Amino acid sequence: METGEMFRREIGPLIEQVHRQLAEVIQGTDVRPVAHPDAAAVLAGFREALPEQGCGAARALTELLQWNDVAGANTAGPRCYHFVIGGATPAALGADLLATALDTVPYTWILSPLATEMEKQALDWLKDLLGLPTGWPGVMVTGASMANFVCLAAARQWWGRELGVDVSETGVAGLPRMPVLSSGFVHASTVKVLALLGIGRSGVERFVHDEFGRLDLDGLRRRLEELDGAPSVVVVNAGEVNAGEFDPVQEMVELARQHNCWVHVDGAFGLFARLSPRTADLVAGAELADSATVDGHKWLNVPYDSGYAFVRDHALLAEAFRYSADYLPEENDVRPTFGAIGPESSRRARCFAVWATLKAYGREGHARIVEHCLDIAQHFAGVVSATPGLQLMNEPRLNIVSFRYNPGGMREEALDALNTRLGAAVLEDGRYLVGTSKWGPRTIFRPAFSNWRTRKEDVEGLASVIVELGASLSRG
Ligand SMILES: Cc1ncc(COP(=O)(O)O)c(C=O)c1O
Repeated sequence: METGEMFRREIGPLIEQVHRQLAEVIQGTDVRPVAHPDAAAVLAGFREALPEQGCGAARALTELLQWNDVAGANTAGPRCYHFVIGGATPAALGADLLATALDTVPYTWILSPLATEMEKQALDWLKDLLGLPTGWPGVMVTGASMANFVCLAAARQWWGRELGVDVSETGVAGLPRMPVLSSGFVHASTVKVLALLGIGRSGVERFVHDEFGRLDLDGLRRRLEELDGAPSVVVVNAGEVNAGEFDPVQEMVELARQHNCWVHVDGAFGLFARLSPRTADLVAGAELADSATVDGHKWLNVPYDSGYAFVRDHALLAEAFRYSADYLPEENDVRPTFGAIGPESSRRARCFAVWATLKAYGREGHARIVEHCLDIAQHFAGVVSATPGLQLMNEPRLNIVSFRYNPGGMREEALDALNTRLGAAVLEDGRYLVGTSKWGPRTIFRPAFSNWRTRKEDVEGLASVIVELGASLSRG
């Protein structure tokens, strides 16, 4: 049979099958195990030689789900608190499936006038939702790492201009190192981005006044005075990952504004604080920056992958990400080419999910998701405080709760070692997906609540599991 005919015949029955499978997958999200501790052993049987004759789509997809049932991780479910992982609203999930079915490519207007316009609309809505200036252009990327890359590439372009150089043309060789100033809260992705931008990982100068990494504002001030008008970049961390803490956004931006700085706000999840009157003050002043990073697959609850870079000056993006050839759209075409103001040319229609969820639930619906997660964090902190053997390590200001297992009578170093082993035991156990980290010198658990699906009983279960496994470890 001719190839096209073969695929066309397969599609009808496959739609029926996928319809059933999707229903099972989506309806099962609340109850599917969050992890499979024996995944490594199971996956020992996964690899095989490239099939000479394939098994067909129906069988391939069924097998895929069978493997997922025994070795997947239910990161969309209500008991995943590792890293900062959001859920997906029904509208976002549906729209994302449609984006895949349509195989839409919002590289440039001609490939999808709708998606291009939708991306602009969705970015405008996001700015409105998060209180960012309406005039800032933006671009959708894979996540906050890439958004930090876009924003800091724009910052580097600005810095080059200040030195009279177009860095995108000539590179940074021979130039002084671009000063990048931040607090101890600076995220690992910013450090990686500095490596990619030719500044180097060690280029970030951290001004820290306590063991937790909080900003030393006077130290930052002194450094800016010492720079004496030389251009520099200040990275403001609106939401850090170990305890959900914040740099003093307003003070930091105002200080930077008195000097010759580009101010970048990494608000991957923290900018969503703007949606609740309880937390909005934490990000006041972010709108005075020059660029901002926001993640969608975290607290907007759209499926992976989805992040947004906002930069005050379109020309900087156009210079940094210029992309031209005879067969490509004109650079000065009034219709936007997102592929020429961001790192990716070919790109998914991430805008479908963002547009659909904001259209479906609006400001009010998304504020409810944020309020829900704030409530869950407060509830969990209350459970921790009331549970013998658990110790709250920081009053949660947002959606991350820093705590540890502490049965009493142990020295700090021994407690750190116990919590590290307990972290491994929790992952081995598989009832919850949650990670450990450091808050200051101490080893802690740091569940992050960013999913509308998580209920109070889910997080109460986490407290009991940690106490149960902690007690069994302590017994040795
Ligand atoms: C503050 C902050 N910035 C950047 C990132 C990187 O985000 P992504 O994994 O979406 O690239 C994260 C991820 O947790 C984050 O919390």
